[in-house]
Amino acid sequence: MKILIIGGNGTIGKTVTSKLQLDHEIITAGRQTGDITVDIADSNSIQSMLENLPLLDAIVCIAGEAKWAPFSELTEEDYYLGLKSKLMGQVNLVRLGQAYLSPGGSFTLTTGILADDPVIMTASAAMVNGGLHSFVKASALELENSQRINVVSAGLVEDAVEKYRDYFPGHNAVPMERVVNGYLRSIFGKGNGEIIRVY
Ligand SMILES: NC(=O)c1ccc[n+]([C@@H]2O[C@H](COP(=O)([O-])OP(=O)(O)OC[C@H]3O[C@@H](n4cnc5c(N)ncnc54)[C@H](OP(=O)(O)O)[C@@H]3O)[C@@H](O)[C@H]2O)c1
Repeated sequence: MKILIIGGNGTIGKTVTSKLQLDHEIITAGRQTGDITVDIADSNSIQSMLENLPLLDAIVCIAGEAKWAPFSELTEEDYYLGLKSKLMGQVNLVRLGQAYLSPGGSFTLTTGILADDPVIMTASAAMVNGGLHSFVKASALELENSQRINVVSAGLVEDAVEKYRDYFPGHNAVPMERVVNGYLRSIFGKGNGEIIRVY
């Protein structure tokens, strides 16, 4: 399969990429890192990336940002970071990507445990994740040409524990193998409209 992985060089993305590239042709993308560049917060950037790629069998996004800050300090602009990057970045990837995905191909988006189990300072990040879950369920009903869409929602992953431990008191870190399996299930399974929770 030809698989595009946006964020393929990130903490989660690099583990997913190393597993998939054993058997598939992988193209990684990021703003600075990867085989090609894209900023998902800019739909023109998504469009020009897609125009320069061959027909894809799977489009995976393991990228997107949202501002973490105390609720009392989050400004309107702070919310727009998450809305433009993680939320609309992934929505636009699907909206524009349908024309560049083969029949029967799949989209796999990324959210996270905050949608169900937020911690402090995540009013924006949790909201974005929740919105994406609804988007995936609804868009799955209307994708054409047997295309599918799912989202992987992981808990704090093992490889990010050092960075985020203090924000997730009492949470169990998710082994990377289980996280990777969430992506494999979306790409190679038959599920559509699924929120694949890996907690
Ligand atoms: N870490 C966790 O425990 C965890 C758990 C559940 C969910 N998540 C979610 O999973 C996603 C990835 O997390 P991570 O920990 O792997 O993050 P990470 O290490 O920061 O990696 C993010 C990757 O995405 C790329 N990227 C970021 N913004 C982008 C943009 N606007 N356009 C294109 N590429 C972009 C980055 O590359 P460039 O810098 O080159 O752009 C990088 O390769 C995030 O949405 C995060 O919320 C993370």
